[in-house]
Amino acid sequence: MSTQKALLMPTPGGSYTVGEVAVPSPGPNDVLVKVQAAGLNPVDWKVALPEYVSLGLVPGYPFTPGSDGAGVVVEVGAEVSKFKKGDRVLFQGSRMKSGFGTFQEHSLVRAPLLAKIPDNISFDAAATVPSGLVSVVLALYNQHNEQESLGLKPFWSEGGSTAYAGKPIFILGGATSVGQYAIQLAKLSGFSPIITTASPRNAALLTALGATHVVDRTRPADAILADLPALSGGQPIDVVFDAVSDPSTQALAYRALAPGGPGLMLVLPDAIPAELKKDGAQKHIRMVRGMVYLAHAHAVGVEMFERVAGWLEQGLIKPTAFEVVPNGLAGITAGLERLKSGAVSAKKLVVRPQETP
Ligand SMILES: NC(=O)c1ccc[n+]([C@@H]2O[C@H](COP(=O)([O-])OP(=O)(O)OC[C@H]3O[C@@H](n4cnc5c(N)ncnc54)[C@H](OP(=O)(O)O)[C@@H]3O)[C@@H](O)[C@H]2O)c1
Repeated sequence: MSTQKALLMPTPGGSYTVGEVAVPSPGPNDVLVKVQAAGLNPVDWKVALPEYVSLGLVPGYPFTPGSDGAGVVVEVGAEVSKFKKGDRVLFQGSRMKSGFGTFQEHSLVRAPLLAKIPDNISFDAAATVPSGLVSVVLALYNQHNEQESLGLKPFWSEGGSTAYAGKPIFILGGATSVGQYAIQLAKLSGFSPIITTASPRNAALLTALGATHVVDRTRPADAILADLPALSGGQPIDVVFDAVSDPSTQALAYRALAPGGPGLMLVLPDAIPAELKKDGAQKHIRMVRGMVYLAHAHAVGVEMFERVAGWLEQGLIKPTAFEVVPNGLAGITAGLERLKSGAVSAKKLVVRPQETP
């Protein structure tokens, strides 16, 4: 086993190809995982856009993307004691570190950022979890970067599960992968009511995850805003999570936010119209970068990966629904086209790299 198949972005702004690369070797604190399932994310097509290319966030070209992975441990570094060959594991990949993307047959992971998969969860389901959950954990609970987090008390810390009891939260885009984890963590933090926007067909799903009110996302912003006071029981809403963050949802999110509290969390750069900000209100706007390998994300990331197996086993966190895309790595480009066109609703697309023809 010296070479393997991997998805490659050959040049800046190029198109993906499947190629043959060396199987990476684990460093002392790394684990090598045979990837059984890898989840697709919008960023996997966005990395070819000029605005992403210009950020220069990849180690060079070609690089291998892929931010969600689940598989079996095949090798552990000399200093790794918590994992052994044969363990079933889930992890967030990184396109920024050579060998750490999940769109390949074997991927490296830093051992503290790896979690075992409980028996009740399949590889495909496990691969829907890491990036969505990491993004929301960092957005809500990271204490080490106030520009990128609302800095809430983690639900797993002493008093954290009741810290926000009776407080309303508004989550735009509850059916996105990120939104589904935002609803679940909001519930675990005690927030109530949990108001979200989605297509009506997803209302039952989101209610089962913890939403108390699902508002039709196609209604005009003014109508949604007019309904919020009744839905929040008249309480000001000072925690808003925009899991879509397109210009229209950002404007709605900003208008819905009451000043002075933790604030508005965005998942894409701030595009709130300057006109709206002229209100001069003390509204805090944050944007998360949901990558656990960022230095400021490490501490809370380790706390999360230590606990995630238990959360999944107990059903505190439910993976998102998924669809397995055929042809392994060779199916990714077609899957990303579906994400890009908005054709995927309330589920994660997953590939199995070992099924690559
Ligand atoms: N900053 C970060 O670290 C970070 C991390 C992860 C993702 N992101 C970004 O976050 C966004 C969501 O990613 P994802 O993977 O969670 O998305 P996703 O699961 O692919 O999102 C699909 C869902 O978007 C919903 N949606 C689309 N437009 C909407 C609107 N105007 N209002 C409410 N819902 C809407 C649809 O809901 P319905 O089916 O109900 O219509 C659909 O189910 C993407 O832009 C992604 O790039 C950022």
